[in-house]
Amino acid sequence: MEITGRTRLTGLFGDPVIHSRSPAMHNAAYLHLRLPFVYLPFRVAGAQLPAAVRAIRALDMAGVNITVPHKEAVIPYLDRLDETALRCGAVNTIVNREGVLTGYNTDGLGFLDSLSELGFELRKKKAVILGAGGSARAVAAALLDLPVKSLLVLNRTVEKAKELAAALGAGDKISIFPLKADAVPDLAEAELVVNTLSVPFKQRGSRLVNLEQAKKALFYDLRYGSMPSGFLDYAKELGRPGVDGSGMLLHQGARAFTLITGREAPLEVMRKALL
Ligand code: ATR
Repeated sequence: MEITGRTRLTGLFGDPVIHSRSPAMHNAAYLHLRLPFVYLPFRVAGAQLPAAVRAIRALDMAGVNITVPHKEAVIPYLDRLDETALRCGAVNTIVNREGVLTGYNTDGLGFLDSLSELGFELRKKKAVILGAGGSARAVAAALLDLPVKSLLVLNRTVEKAKELAAALGAGDKISIFPLKADAVPDLAEAELVVNTLSVPFKQRGSRLVNLEQAKKALFYDLRYGSMPSGFLDYAKELGRPGVDGSGMLLHQGARAFTLITGREAPLEVMRKALL
């Protein structure tokens, strides 16, 4: 990669960032299209977040991606939020247009892109989400926009699931059920079960909830890479198809790439860089 006087800086703000595959994915795309950009990982501690956001303007960075734990905390420091970020209450991409910082969230649409790439049609179907945190909210917002027929949210803290439903203004489209090892939710009609939990799905050999009834569902784990949650092993035990979160990582990255550079993302180059 040639660095010249025209090269602009982009990157990732998070903590940790050491295992991130985003730098490889974005730099491969810049190189392929001969774009004058470079993408670096920046480990940003919570207390440094306001200064890091000011640095985007000070250094005239073209944009950045935001990851855990800053996706929600970064919002007060931005000038504008687009619809996707407003709906999710979280930002994963910031674009700098002449010093005006706009926050976007490409996670939900990246998730849907990965499903359509698999040929999976969910419109008017029933879907289930395990968890009610930030990732669950991005996935739920995207699924409701499709729209799906209904959404069942299973969460340890039922109150958090209620807050998610209220924040999305989902009315009676979302139903809620406690996530418990001995609970048996009615999943017979579910066509998709998405695991967004931040803890292993299998703890000391036993699963967090019984999904045996989800007989015609695709099991989708938002995790990917070297830290499997055990969710896809459970899918295998039940004889259900499963996919990990690498497709979502690719597609949220591709959408962020287009927002920051204004160019169509070279998807296959980015996919190869992720592998
Ligand atoms: P993310 O941004 O990745 O979605 P998060 O917002 O911290 O992460 O959400 C974590 C999710 O994992 C939540 O649904 C959380 O459940 P609670 O709302 O009950 O906290 C879930 N989770 C975390 N630890 C868990 C545990 N030990 N058992 C079951 N669920 C757990």
